[in-house]
Amino acid sequence: MNTNTKYLGLDIKSPIVVGSCGLTHDIDNLVKMEQAGAGAVIIKSVFEEQIIYDIKHSLSVMAPTENYGMSYEYIANHVAEDSLSKHFDLITEAKKRLSIPVVGSINCYSFENWMTYTKRFQDVGCDALELNMAVLPYETTLSCEDVDRLFSDIINTLKKSVSIPISIKVSQNFTDMANFMQRLSWMGINGITMFNKAINVDVDLDTLTLKHAPSLSSPDDIYNTLRWTAILSKKLRCDISASTGVHTADDVVKLLVAGAGTVQVVSCLYKNGVDYVRTLNDGLNAWMQNKGYDSLDQFRGKLAVKSNEESSLFFRTQFMKYFAQI
Ligand SMILES: Cc1cc2nc3c(=O)[nH]c(=O)nc-3n(C[C@H](O)[C@H](O)[C@H](O)COP(=O)(O)O)c2cc1C
Repeated sequence: MNTNTKYLGLDIKSPIVVGSCGLTHDIDNLVKMEQAGAGAVIIKSVFEEQIIYDIKHSLSVMAPTENYGMSYEYIANHVAEDSLSKHFDLITEAKKRLSIPVVGSINCYSFENWMTYTKRFQDVGCDALELNMAVLPYETTLSCEDVDRLFSDIINTLKKSVSIPISIKVSQNFTDMANFMQRLSWMGINGITMFNKAINVDVDLDTLTLKHAPSLSSPDDIYNTLRWTAILSKKLRCDISASTGVHTADDVVKLLVAGAGTVQVVSCLYKNGVDYVRTLNDGLNAWMQNKGYDSLDQFRGKLAVKSNEESSLFFRTQFMKYFAQI
């Protein structure tokens, strides 16, 4: 069965890509993922907050009251470089040991200063870069226009610093999701990862404090990813890498039928081990064989909303079909 495809313009042998997470921060896991047939791996993100924290921490430890003046930039660069070096060492090692694409990942919310570090991802050999744009829409002072400007500033700055393919990983919360994703795809990026899963917060009723809700996705989370992949896959100028809620080989097939270029997995590997990539690949191959398909393009996007079709009409029809019967 031929499951060859493209991811961010790169040739890959399977549409199953391991998403950025703690599991991809370990060289042994990365090797096992390749052996299990992953099409590509996305390394655990470098977090902007982590670098800023390291810079502030180092400066306060060195001399808490001193005014650093001109030397601030020099020291900040040095600390950031140091903090990034562990990631770069892992990427260098992964590039030596793996033949599948190794994608770097950055989780950021601003573009000042440290965008220059993105070039280092390219220099250490990353095949592409995924930018997790963690813009949280929680402030009443943040407007759609602000978010728009932030995205285009970051993408334009990034495109000036690197020539490797760029993918933007987005959250599930935008006022004008369809319109914004389309405009994003016109900004010259190579792919959109839909979606990042928001970290949920829960309440501990004994201590009346906030606590983390479980961070892994559940199988039901796939429906939102499926909806937006089907709505947008034929309306964007770049591929969708579908992410969140993929737990079985059937989920992989559904997202491909909805038009995804690739499908990312994380939670199911935490639950079943990294070798589970093999089970997903086997399930995809078995389904294709059963249906008589030899390549992904024979069925990819079969159930996507067509490029000239009105998405709301399509979904309104599905809604009516269901509710008219009950
Ligand atoms: C433990 C854990 C760590 C993660 N770390 C990152 C990260 O560093 N960068 C990132 O972009 N996404 C990170 N994610 C989000 C995943 O890449 C993915 O978008 C999310 O888990 C939804 O996919 P899933 O349903 O397959 O888990 C993490 C997820 C988990 C569960």
